[in-house]
Amino acid sequence: MARYTRLTEPIALITLNNPPVNALSSAVRSGIVDSVSQALKDDQVKAVVFCGENRMFSGGADIKEFSGSMSGPPLVRMIHSIEASEKLMVAAIEGVALGGGLELALGCHYRVANTKARLGLPEVTLGFLPGAGGTQRLPRLTGITAALELITTGRQISAQEALQLGIVDQVTEGNAVQAAMELALSVIGQPLNPRRLSLRPPVWSADVDSVCEVALARVKQHSRGAMAPVACVQAVRAAAMLPYSKGMEKERQLMDTLFRSSQARALQYAFFAQRNAGKWSLPNGARWNNTKARDVQRVGVIGLGTMGRGIAVSLVKAGLSVVALESDAKQLESGKKAVTAMLQRDAQRRGVGSPLHLLTFALSFHQLKDVDLVIEAVFEDMNLKKRVFSDLCKVLRAGTLICTNTSGLNVDELAKVTDRQHLVVGMHFFAPAHVMKLLEVVYGSRSSPEAVAVAMALGKRIQKVCVAVGNCPGFVGNRMLKLYMDQSLYLLEEGATPEQVDQALEEFGFAMGIFKVADLSGLDVGWRVRKASGLIGPDIDPVNPSRWRLGQRYCPLPDMLCQQGRFGQKTGRGWYLYNSPGSKEAKPDPEILNFLEDYRLKYGITPQRISSQEVIERCAFSLANEGFRILEDGIAAGPEDIDVIYLFGYGWPRHRGGPMFYASQVGLSVVLEKMEHYHRIHPDVPSLEPSRLLRRLVAEGSPPIQQWRNHIKNLHSQL
Ligand code: CAA
Ligand code: NAI
Repeated sequence: MARYTRLTEPIALITLNNPPVNALSSAVRSGIVDSVSQALKDDQVKAVVFCGENRMFSGGADIKEFSGSMSGPPLVRMIHSIEASEKLMVAAIEGVALGGGLELALGCHYRVANTKARLGLPEVTLGFLPGAGGTQRLPRLTGITAALELITTGRQISAQEALQLGIVDQVTEGNAVQAAMELALSVIGQPLNPRRLSLRPPVWSADVDSVCEVALARVKQHSRGAMAPVACVQAVRAAAMLPYSKGMEKERQLMDTLFRSSQARALQYAFFAQRNAGKWSLPNGARWNNTKARDVQRVGVIGLGTMGRGIAVSLVKAGLSVVALESDAKQLESGKKAVTAMLQRDAQRRGVGSPLHLLTFALSFHQLKDVDLVIEAVFEDMNLKKRVFSDLCKVLRAGTLICTNTSGLNVDELAKVTDRQHLVVGMHFFAPAHVMKLLEVVYGSRSSPEAVAVAMALGKRIQKVCVAVGNCPGFVGNRMLKLYMDQSLYLLEEGATPEQVDQALEEFGFAMGIFKVADLSGLDVGWRVRKASGLIGPDIDPVNPSRWRLGQRYCPLPDMLCQQGRFGQKTGRGWYLYNSPGSKEAKPDPEILNFLEDYRLKYGITPQRISSQEVIERCAFSLANEGFRILEDGIAAGPEDIDVIYLFGYGWPRHRGGPMFYASQVGLSVVLEKMEHYHRIHPDVPSLEPSRLLRRLVAEGSPPIQQWRNHIKNLHSQL
């Protein structure tokens, strides 16, 4: 797990060897301790160079070990003895040096990095802090301001930036081990005390308090309710105020609190859930590791509206060539301008050449004849999409995949009009598509495993977090979102205000409450969908609309707002008031409060006092309850996939893991009890009825979330 090699006369090499990222597992730490002691015993050895197998220094502590009881040599003590050693220690960084990996390098007396290496202390993203001296050593190298930024965000930096910040001593385009050896040979014999960061005094300066205040305000705003960033500020502040040993005590105290916190568990769960999402499986047994994806080089994008533009940009940025098609010259021109500007801005920002040569703009389907895959992003209209799909079949090569970006239409129905049902899948991007990381890959009943593999691989290539989901109205994300939105609207009917609901959700950790999000997306979008699906029609009285449609409770409030031209930010008025159309600052609107009061009076609803707890329970538990139904229906393979969808597509706070993880943390029996309670009070809302799977899991003793997949398998085998 750590290989000891004698190099030239005075140098020993210790190679961390734990693929794929050389995580500092208990065995690796033991190997390092043994190797260091071997080097110390060998009189011929004057210097030790640390490196990682396969040109990858280290991805830090082994996160898998955090859930069990820790064993092996403690990292803090190990790094301390490396730093205290009388022999010269040099880190040769290639690949990444992250978390404990960078802390190990900071314990060395010199650091050399390859130009392509990335360095960082991402512990905050896992719910704790760099607890192996990172919060005390890094500020002593970079100063407080840079250390605060790096440690509270977990941002990874390039070797060049690390050099500028003083984190590494040398950057090389060549082999870092070779460069580290040369450096070692040139400094052997020089005093080591000045290189031992723990011996440096606190990095106090007169503005420490104000710098920390600013950092604290920033982290509180950015990561609402997350404990780790706040603790990171406190730990770094200790590096400015206290000698090293006292600072380490502070680091340990803060780490002890964070390490076993529910937030740390949620964030570590999210880390693995994100990585597992790519390991898709279909109900028919096809999986990521038994299905081959063929290569895609040329992609057609149909429709250059809001979504098509972002999709085209994502594809081109990843080096794919794109043929972008619109319905008429005017639309094409406006799409072309927007896509070109986005790509040019991005190239400028990244200091790279513009990739516009990869783009072709087209008005005729014939120009798509050579593409390997098409992504359709025309209006959400089944008939239009069917026309596009059948026209495509007349020009595309036989093996070309046809993908739809529909938000929730039936993928099977679309596939039926084609001559290649097995090559049709959904690729559901999220707006803005060049920014949002989530991609739902929707397989229909006829989609081939290969088609799913191709869409998943393409998504990964354009750096999306891809989740394979089954075909049902709204798929996973939007199917659940509908119930979340419904609950928020019912809360307004029953006595809450948009601000109250949003505040409760923001305090829970959402970056934006649901009504602010609705104003941002545009209330008219859902209005059009409801009209198309027959929920709003000529037989509905616009002044006194019914609160009962298609056999269920219905809240007509958003329709009534749209009738008043309140479409959200774009019209300057929606659930909130804005200074002008397009402005972003949401202010409570007294007109909305009056409107809600009149509405309740008209329908004889006695307003209730709604607590924040009720808001969270009804919104979050409804999401989870529908998530259980989705698992029952086999639309998602496991709870982790649902959580990844909510983390990357819907702004669910990462330190709460996702709706399914949240339900598991609150306790399934509590969720069940609450859903029964709310369903009793609102029998006219069938979605509040606890799902079968939730009941079953509670009956089976509320197993941990990692075991739910087995229970779901059993449930399916009994159906
Ligand atoms: N511990 C355990 N497993 C890890 C790991 C770690 N630190 N880092 C990555 N892995 C695993 C992943 O789960 C994945 O496993 P599977 O193949 O079984 O899915 C595999 O290694 C490859 O990971 P990625 O798919 O993420 O590969 P990548 O090439 O895209 O990225 C990486 C590599 C940049 C190192 C990325 O994995 C990463 O960011 N890892 C986490 C780094 C981190 O947060 N380190 C801090 C750990 S905490 C710490 O160090 C605390 C302390 O000192 C006290
Ligand atoms: P949009 O209205 O912004 O753009 C649609 C574009 O398609 C228009 O530019 C239109 O000219 C073009 N178009 C229409 N018919 C065409 C044809 N026959 N050939 C070529 N182009 C044609 O719509 P938006 O928002 O981009 O939505 C597109 C699809 O993406 C819809 O299915 C929608 O449900 C889905 N979607 C939308 C999201 C959003 O937030 N806007 C999020 C995720 C999916």
